[in-house]
Amino acid sequence: MKMSLAKLFLVLAVALMLAVPQVSMAKELNGDLEIFSWWAGDEGPALQALIKQYKDQNPNVNVIDATVTGGSGVNAKAVLKTRMLGNEPPDSFQVHSGQELIGTWVKADRMEDLTFLFKEQGWMDAFPEGLIKLIGTDDGIWSVPVTIHRSNVMWYIPANLKKWGVTAPKTWADFLKIAPKLQKEGIVPLAMAENWTVNHLWESVALASLGADKWDALWSGKLRFDSPDVVKAWELFGKILKYTNKDASSLSWQQATDMMIDGKAAFNIMGDWAAGYMSTTKKMAPGKDFGWATSPDTGGEFMFLSDSFGLPKGAPNRDNAIAWLKVLGSKKGSDTFNPLKGSISPRTDSDLSKYNAYLQSASADFGKDRVVGSLAHGVAANETFMGGFSQIMEMFLKTHNAKAVSMACQQLADKSKIGK
Ligand code: GAL
Repeated sequence: MKMSLAKLFLVLAVALMLAVPQVSMAKELNGDLEIFSWWAGDEGPALQALIKQYKDQNPNVNVIDATVTGGSGVNAKAVLKTRMLGNEPPDSFQVHSGQELIGTWVKADRMEDLTFLFKEQGWMDAFPEGLIKLIGTDDGIWSVPVTIHRSNVMWYIPANLKKWGVTAPKTWADFLKIAPKLQKEGIVPLAMAENWTVNHLWESVALASLGADKWDALWSGKLRFDSPDVVKAWELFGKILKYTNKDASSLSWQQATDMMIDGKAAFNIMGDWAAGYMSTTKKMAPGKDFGWATSPDTGGEFMFLSDSFGLPKGAPNRDNAIAWLKVLGSKKGSDTFNPLKGSISPRTDSDLSKYNAYLQSASADFGKDRVVGSLAHGVAANETFMGGFSQIMEMFLKTHNAKAVSMACQQLADKSKIGK
């Protein structure tokens, strides 16, 4: 009788363990987690909310929020390169989906394949197939997408436009008509900032001038950079630059947006993180305090980019990083992060009621517009091309020679193996 009671206890204990495996066997994570990104300062609130969610789930992990300031990662990417080359990777880092990830870090064999996580978390169905293709190769899936941002947006302050008697131009021809009038009144027609925002403006103008088919053809190697079509796009770009502020190179993107908010400038072409900045940081109401339109001549086209986080090989705290990626890819994480960031969720089951009027309209457009990839934010070309393109842009700002830069771009495309 004594023996059978002991046996009964044993059977009960085993049954209990099997019945509640997640509770009794889940691993308590501890140690550090270093996350590397350029979401500092004004760009930080969305990331902070995500870190808080991670901390709630993993209270014993010490999160190191390693940010390097500078829009579009201008400074962060250089620091990351040094660290990766020195075999000192962070546990997880921000990287744009597309060629910035594939043509740079995956090509250099620096990333871990995350297919196992996508399968385990049900992400093969949660993320659109096209996006998974963008972060994948035949050998694996290489990052977890966090955002869908739109690049081709023109921002304005409705009350100011009313005061000045202008409306948001639908075409660049319209812009070039109203710009001299604004300039005469001492208003900068188009606010611009440091170098990368010039590249950002260029892609909106090039998309307008070329159209979506030719834009795509440029990156698949079917349209040459020195073709008359592309020279024409540079010429239009030169005309528009005349209506930007002279001190652009010393301003951050937020300062350029501020010029528009403060009524010193009429328009600003910037990605929709500007909506995040205006609504989250400046507490402005979308549609009322600030307005938006697709950048001229790009109606029906959605130039997109997507931030993602990856797991570098040799990450010092791999388990903690995997737990981080799980939070990023989850519905709850995504719908906490994106409404603050000014982006829409890459997940197809996102809860739109959590998003403001601007983001709801971006989401509707993403569903029906022709979607093309951004150059300035890593979708279309690798880092080699982007680095060279920024130098060519410097040359254009000095010379305004459309033919010369088009030829230089073609040489760069050959060297960077664009479309190969
Ligand atoms: C982009 C990035 C956005 C935003 C922006 C400004 O490259 O994808 O999330 O951070 O830069 O810094």
